[in-house]
Amino acid sequence: MRLPTLVLQALVLQALAGLPAHAAPSRIDDLLARMTVEEKVGQLSLFAPVAAGALANPVTRQPSAEGQRDAIRAGRVTGLFNGVGREGKREAQTIAVKQSRLGIPLLFGADVIHGFRTVFPVPLAEAASWDPSLAERTARAAAIEATADGFRWTFAPMVDIARDARWGRTVEGAGEDVFLGARFAAARVRGFQGPDLARADAMLATPKHFAAYGAASGGLDYNTVDISERTLREVYLPPFRAALDAGALSVMSAFNEISGVPANANPWLLGSVLRGEWGFGGFVVSDYTADEELIAHGVAADAREATRLSFLAGSDISMQSGLYNEHLPDLVADGEVPMARLDDAVRRVLAVKEKLGLFDDPMRGLDGTAPADWPEHRALAREAARRAIVLLRNEGDLLPLPRQGRRIALIGPFAEGPHDLHGPWTLFPGPRPPVSLAEGLRAALADSSSLTVTAGSGVDRPVRNGLRDAMAAARNADVVLLAIGEGEAMSGEARSRTDISLPAAQQALAEAVASTGKPVIVLLRNGRAMALTGAVREARAIAVTWFLGSETGHAVADVLFGDAAPSGRLPVSFPQASGQVPFHYDHKPTGRPVPESAPDAFYKARYLDVSHEPLYAFGHGLGYGRIRYDAVALSHQRLPWNGVLEVTATLTNTGPRAMDEVVQLYVRDPVASVTRPVRQLKGFERVHVLPGATVQVTFRLQRADLGFIGADGTDTVEPGAFDVWVAPSATGGLKARFLLEGPTLHNVGKR
Ligand code: BGC
Repeated sequence: MRLPTLVLQALVLQALAGLPAHAAPSRIDDLLARMTVEEKVGQLSLFAPVAAGALANPVTRQPSAEGQRDAIRAGRVTGLFNGVGREGKREAQTIAVKQSRLGIPLLFGADVIHGFRTVFPVPLAEAASWDPSLAERTARAAAIEATADGFRWTFAPMVDIARDARWGRTVEGAGEDVFLGARFAAARVRGFQGPDLARADAMLATPKHFAAYGAASGGLDYNTVDISERTLREVYLPPFRAALDAGALSVMSAFNEISGVPANANPWLLGSVLRGEWGFGGFVVSDYTADEELIAHGVAADAREATRLSFLAGSDISMQSGLYNEHLPDLVADGEVPMARLDDAVRRVLAVKEKLGLFDDPMRGLDGTAPADWPEHRALAREAARRAIVLLRNEGDLLPLPRQGRRIALIGPFAEGPHDLHGPWTLFPGPRPPVSLAEGLRAALADSSSLTVTAGSGVDRPVRNGLRDAMAAARNADVVLLAIGEGEAMSGEARSRTDISLPAAQQALAEAVASTGKPVIVLLRNGRAMALTGAVREARAIAVTWFLGSETGHAVADVLFGDAAPSGRLPVSFPQASGQVPFHYDHKPTGRPVPESAPDAFYKARYLDVSHEPLYAFGHGLGYGRIRYDAVALSHQRLPWNGVLEVTATLTNTGPRAMDEVVQLYVRDPVASVTRPVRQLKGFERVHVLPGATVQVTFRLQRADLGFIGADGTDTVEPGAFDVWVAPSATGGLKARFLLEGPTLHNVGKR
């Protein structure tokens, strides 16, 4: 059903009424007073560049490069994004500033997702570090490189929670968990934007895709999202809130509908929540042609209606469709869009341009030359890559490997060559090719002739004599490194899969290699959780190496030979089979949970063929030490309503090597007025534990950590018993119980 225009307008104006008063900088007032409606609309129209000589993208409605230059001259373009080179930016900015009537500078945006010239690990991999400050540092480095090239706006961080590994865009975010996701969202915003947006190396951050894009039905990209408001508020919105609290001043609205209303035309989401409840003062940019797609969604009859619905809902900038340029002036003239709404959107955009210092120095980053290579960021790329690696299994302490005295067979489609190292969303890599596994290993080995390299298979099809060669190589070696997994074209936008297991050709390779009886270490390349079966699942050691970027080979070698201990932890659960997804550790218990004492009990929430457990739990990851959780102690048995409870874990490294342990704190509300997850992450702390050493880690819990969206849709905390675990992952750990006391008379109502 469609909301009538008047209702929509009322909703938006109501939401706008809740806005904090704009600090009205005089330059912006002055400009607004002088702008024509067309010029105002131009500030809300963003385009990819039409490259000279190249075929124009028909949706830009700017049929040629010259046409685009004319549009900039006429003040009909607010900025350009992605494929605009340095020369192109310089030329476009000169036209905007010198030849357009009001000289308003353009804003250049780009998908700077995991690095710019230097390519850092994909965001999911960085989340595996469980160290938000690492992501802050790589985002900062990416911003330094990108701003030096004139880009001041990134369409990142992607903060969508992803619980269905079929969804290809899982690779772009921080995984399945709300708490971890929110911490990474905030860190990345801080990294991109830096301490002050006015600085030349500050990059405006854009948390995306608002909202619930990751909840696409069936894991199919762009698909329908139908979720409760509770799930939306508890799971999908908090990372956005965290990103905005960290200072992000633009938000990208999502392609998907949410329970019947496309996000891009959703006045409740963009108006009531974002601007009303959260007081967001920045601007909303639509995703790529998301406004025009309202027609395909079936909520707009034509482009004019799509424009009206998007704009009135709160989508300030139209990306790429050109719809606003085409229809907003008429809609304003016809009184269907209030001038106040237009002014509000323009003011938001100009205010951000001003904050970025563009009015004062529009050629920032465009003068002179920009380095194509940033050697000073290589060490950070190597550190980030190393710390993203997750060691899932290490039977008999096969790893670390000695640097000499072993013949190593590196086998698999990802063993060699510059392909599939960067990962999706690498639009601007520097000239230096990324370091392949073979290169990294050779550089680290005392005698590089102890390494043989064999493909054995293609990514998704066999190669001639592949299995024969691979088996021969394995037989001639003491240990096999099996570099298998997904190619980079298998995750990312529009890269959903129905089956998250290994392509058949590579599975056959793994089985053939295993049949030689040689010890196998799987180096998994992947942009999502995968379902590991057969010889891969049974390999002596398994390391998740994602897409690690520029320094892949060196980072993997650092870990394999023990120069660095593996310290990553899974940000996504690895299920046992594709059919278990969507899968996440913080699920609800159901009325028929499987009893721990009777895992095979019938008429319980279990599948016939696999147990509904993860193969590797969220939070899991080994190091080269061995941690024993000795005890959990609570400062008190009762947490006063306004008090603090300390939870202290004691742990000992019983292994022979130092260990970076990520101690995780989970809670459960076992009895509440609405059903609650079986566990939820509420804290984590990384500690370095020397061999034989015992350390203590203390977490603080408060009432605010125990809340949820109640039956009435509001923030709720209910007194009563809570379970708490300190644990090495979402399964296991040590458990304690405490009581949250109710409010006393003098603090009733102080939620
Ligand atoms: C993606 C966005 C991206 C935009 C611009 C869209 O297809 O969904 O994440 O920022 O394109 O490249």
